Amino acid sequence: MENMKAVRIHNYGGPEVLRFEDAPRPTPGSGELLIKVHAAAVNPVDGEIRAGYMKEIVPFVLPFIPGWDVSGVVETTGSGATKFKKGDEVYARTDLSRNGAYAEYIVVKEAEAALKPRSVDHLHSAAIPIVASTAWQALFDHAALGNEQRILIHGAAGGVGSFAVQLAKWKGAYVIGTASTENQAFLRELGVDQAIDYEKARFDDVVHNVDVVFDTIGGDTRERSWKVVKKGGILVSIVGPPPSDEAAKYGVRSAYFAAQPNASQLAEIAKLVDAGKIYPIVDTVLPLAEARHAHELAEKGHAPGKIVLKVA
Ligand SMILES: NC(=O)c1ccc[n+]([C@@H]2O[C@H](COP(=O)([O-])OP(=O)(O)OC[C@H]3O[C@@H](n4cnc5c(N)ncnc54)[C@H](OP(=O)(O)O)[C@@H]3O)[C@@H](O)[C@H]2O)c1
Repeated sequence: MENMKAVRIHNYGGPEVLRFEDAPRPTPGSGELLIKVHAAAVNPVDGEIRAGYMKEIVPFVLPFIPGWDVSGVVETTGSGATKFKKGDEVYARTDLSRNGAYAEYIVVKEAEAALKPRSVDHLHSAAIPIVASTAWQALFDHAALGNEQRILIHGAAGGVGSFAVQLAKWKGAYVIGTASTENQAFLRELGVDQAIDYEKARFDDVVHNVDVVFDTIGGDTRERSWKVVKKGGILVSIVGPPPSDEAAKYGVRSAYFAAQPNASQLAEIAKLVDAGKIYPIVDTVLPLAEARHAHELAEKGHAPGKIVLKVA
């Protein structure tokens, strides 16, 4: 069996459990693709899984390779995989229960991959799948955001929030976004109509009657959000299921979801990137061997833009 370089987790814990080492190079099965990884993005879920917070929910087999955002080139196709051919440049958000993209090669299901946006390089393309498809599913699948509706996006400077702002603006909505003092200029660059500095103002003092709240923060931020949603409006959270009695008390709807891989959404998102309607934001690029440092940086938070591991 051939080997490859990869970052693996042998036991759950802090960033120090990420080991850069040799691992078996995978082979694609039926309906699967072997991708030569060019770049893999770091997401909060990578750290949550590394720390063991999701071991009861997702059946990981140790040692495993984290990282579920990938951009790369198709190396070989498994039997029955006909959508792509060797040499295609693709990106994917892969299934959390399988080995991830902190490696020279990854096997993905053909149904998870789409051609990457042509107008950006692999480092930027890897920064798109999880955050953009989560924002897409929140705004369009769960909130059914329409043009001229008003949306409040919490964590608008974050990975998911920054795509949510851009997708909501593309849809024609009026966008209110919250972020720290440090990220106010960034919110304006993204195109928010009203930027709120959560360090200086309570959003619930200045925002009223929105159609949609998109909550990427939770806790007290979510608690104070119910009253800013207009009757019949919706609060969509990606950090935990909101109590349904709270929603009923305020006469609003609520939703929580775990984003799912969706290649047709990635294909739509790639078109929007190539049309210049939305763009990925990369803050830091590190070599694969520095995955541990990447996780340490990610856990500090606050930088606008994603941390991406350069592989090929
Ligand atoms: N359910 C799902 O399927 C799903 C999918 C993706 C992500 N998630 C979860 O969603 C959350 C966000 O993910 P992400 O990738 O966007 O994370 P991220 O890139 O780390 O962004 C988090 C953002 O939160 C902002 N923030 C912190 N406290 C805030 C507050 N009180 N008010 C407003 N903004 C605040 C930070 O901005 P400042 O620096 O300006 O404070 C930061 O930009 C994570 O918990 C992640 O695990 C869930």
